[in-house]
Amino acid sequence: MYSKIVGTGRYLPEKVLTNFDMEKLVDTTDQWIEERTGIRQRHVAAENETTSDLAFHAAKNAMEAAGVSNTDVDLIIVATTTPDRVFPSTACLLQDKLDIHGCPAFDIQAVCTGFVYAMSIADKFIKSGESKCALVVGAETLSRILDWNDRGTCVLFGDGAGAVVLKPSEEPGILSTHIHADGAYNDLLNVSAGVSDRTQLFNDGAAYIQMKGNEVFKMAVNTLGSIVDETLAANKMQKSDIDWLVPHQANIRIIKATAKKLKMPMDHVVTTVDKHGNTSAASIPLAFDVAIRDGRIKPGETVMMEAFGGGFTWGAVLFQY
Ligand code: ACO
Repeated sequence: MYSKIVGTGRYLPEKVLTNFDMEKLVDTTDQWIEERTGIRQRHVAAENETTSDLAFHAAKNAMEAAGVSNTDVDLIIVATTTPDRVFPSTACLLQDKLDIHGCPAFDIQAVCTGFVYAMSIADKFIKSGESKCALVVGAETLSRILDWNDRGTCVLFGDGAGAVVLKPSEEPGILSTHIHADGAYNDLLNVSAGVSDRTQLFNDGAAYIQMKGNEVFKMAVNTLGSIVDETLAANKMQKSDIDWLVPHQANIRIIKATAKKLKMPMDHVVTTVDKHGNTSAASIPLAFDVAIRDGRIKPGETVMMEAFGGGFTWGAVLFQY
């Protein structure tokens, strides 16, 4: 028994901030952002729009594509770093918006690797027979945890949501999932304060993303290389067996380095980072939905999703679409 993706969806908030808009906010240039990251624009949620709102639109699209209704869904997992509230979970708030009642609903927090973690968990629910129709969402309003005066971080991130519906199938679907973490690196990429730890708040009393970008970059490139090797070895596959790479969309240079490691031509790598920046847990399902809807990824093709993020966390999902 396999878990198979039977529908995908995405949603980006209406408001767009281009690199030229960012030039007006901080000391940066379109050229710097584009050359160092590949990002041209990012979407920002409206003031009254929350992570569960973004998740709702993406989930509706995925459910429609899968041809499933609210009474079919029996598991909801939301990967997010920016939940609406401390509690209830964003998954419960999404469940309410979707008029779904009774099924398990919970959040996963693995920062940019969140969607890969969520897929790994949903796969286990499906394989064990506990779920027959799982909704897996990655959704973020990172704009709410950005220091808009820090050019080193505010130009990198954006808001958005992506979703998939998984069902059991005898045809090959998810072949393997691989998830890892090493908390020893928590200092390199984090939000310095939160609910319980109030020791490192910014002057305005809030807490924002802070990152030692250069060190994170090096770790990301090395770690993504090794997760590719681990995934291929677990499936006794060669690099040439992979048809499509759908990487976490943080930085085009990291994506190119991983593609090179896989010997994957860039026209078989789905990149959307230029259009929405780093949307953390939302970036992989956003990119995947684009390549499904424009017909690039076809049924039966082999796809690798991979991600690296705060924690550090990292992981991969290999599947036949
Ligand atoms: N505009 C202009 N100059 C800038 C900007 C900006 N927006 N930001 C930084 N600079 C400057 C720096 O101050 C520095 O100046 P200096 O040399 O005078 O000190 C110079 O540019 C170079 O800075 P670096 O940090 O060395 O630049 P780098 O080439 O490493 O690019 C970047 C920075 C884009 C952040 C890169 O390191 C990166 O992408 N890192 C990884 C990000 C990532 O993948 N994170 C993981 C996932 S995110 C998550 O989990 C939430």
